[in-house]
Amino acid sequence: MPASPTATPEHIKDVNTRYHDAAAGSYDAKWGIDFGPVGQEQVAAKLCKALGTDDPPVLGDALEIGAGTGYFSLNLATQGLIGNLTATDISPGMLASLSETAERLDVSVTTVVSEAESLPFEDESFDVVMGHAVLHHIPDLDQAFSEFFRVLRPGGVIVFCGEPSRYGDRLAAVPKRVGSFVAPVWRKAVSAERLVHTPEELCGEEHGLEPEVDVHAFVPADLRAIPPRAGFEETAVNGEELVANVWGWGMRSMESSAVPETIPMRWRNFAFRSYIAFQKVDVAVLEPYLPAELFYNLLLSARKPA
Ligand SMILES: C[S@@+](CC[C@H](N)C(=O)[O-])C[C@H]1O[C@@H](n2cnc3c(N)ncnc32)[C@H](O)[C@@H]1O
Repeated sequence: MPASPTATPEHIKDVNTRYHDAAAGSYDAKWGIDFGPVGQEQVAAKLCKALGTDDPPVLGDALEIGAGTGYFSLNLATQGLIGNLTATDISPGMLASLSETAERLDVSVTTVVSEAESLPFEDESFDVVMGHAVLHHIPDLDQAFSEFFRVLRPGGVIVFCGEPSRYGDRLAAVPKRVGSFVAPVWRKAVSAERLVHTPEELCGEEHGLEPEVDVHAFVPADLRAIPPRAGFEETAVNGEELVANVWGWGMRSMESSAVPETIPMRWRNFAFRSYIAFQKVDVAVLEPYLPAELFYNLLLSARKPA
């Protein structure tokens, strides 16, 4: 559910900060974020798809917007695809988690708490500005893209992946409902305990704020129109993940109904592997043939004139 149309930009940013601060500790587990070969392969594939290249390029001085716990940029950095990494986010909690993971992975990164619409960097400081699953949280996208343009060097690129499409967002409601419906049977089958939230938990930061953090679900044509308004050229929008997403949302809905520690590891492995298998089906069979609007995730790239 998106934020109320009457919510002010300040309110949306405040809610995003508090929600993601509260979510940071369990974020990687909730979303099955991997910092090994699987995660690396996923982000390299997204980068190639967004830029229309066969092999992932080395990105030089890279700025990530809404970096969260580091899924996108740390997985690129561990493959040697980033020269210098600066990770920003509106949530200090998410960046603290990113720093811990970067230390564990031995990745050098500068973290800066900042919001996308007002970046604390000099003009022409970066070769690439990138992000994953962040644009749909930003209230004023024209202002944010003006900032991306300002801090990029001439010839630099923007790459944003994992943005929800409007159709995909609606489609995801179906497996979410089905997942919740079959959850009691699933819990019984895998001997997982039902998760009962106390009233305090339901009113707490994470649960209470979740419906308010999203501002946009995109139609590709609308997303494609934003970069040129800021001065970018060579704008491209692609789509990815259809069956993988339907499957993934169904799995997550069932799993979120159980006490996490009681979900058997065998099930977790199955859920993860089957999701990856469906991603491969999407890549091989659907993505080359269907229009971007049918997919759940949109990928955007554009270039600042040289
Ligand atoms: C869905 S999470 C994605 C995190 C990470 N990029 C990933 O793919 O796992 C969105 C992130 O954007 C951040 N965010 C939300 N609004 C923002 C804003 N206006 N400026 C910068 N970051 C923002 C949130 O704090 C959160 O970490």
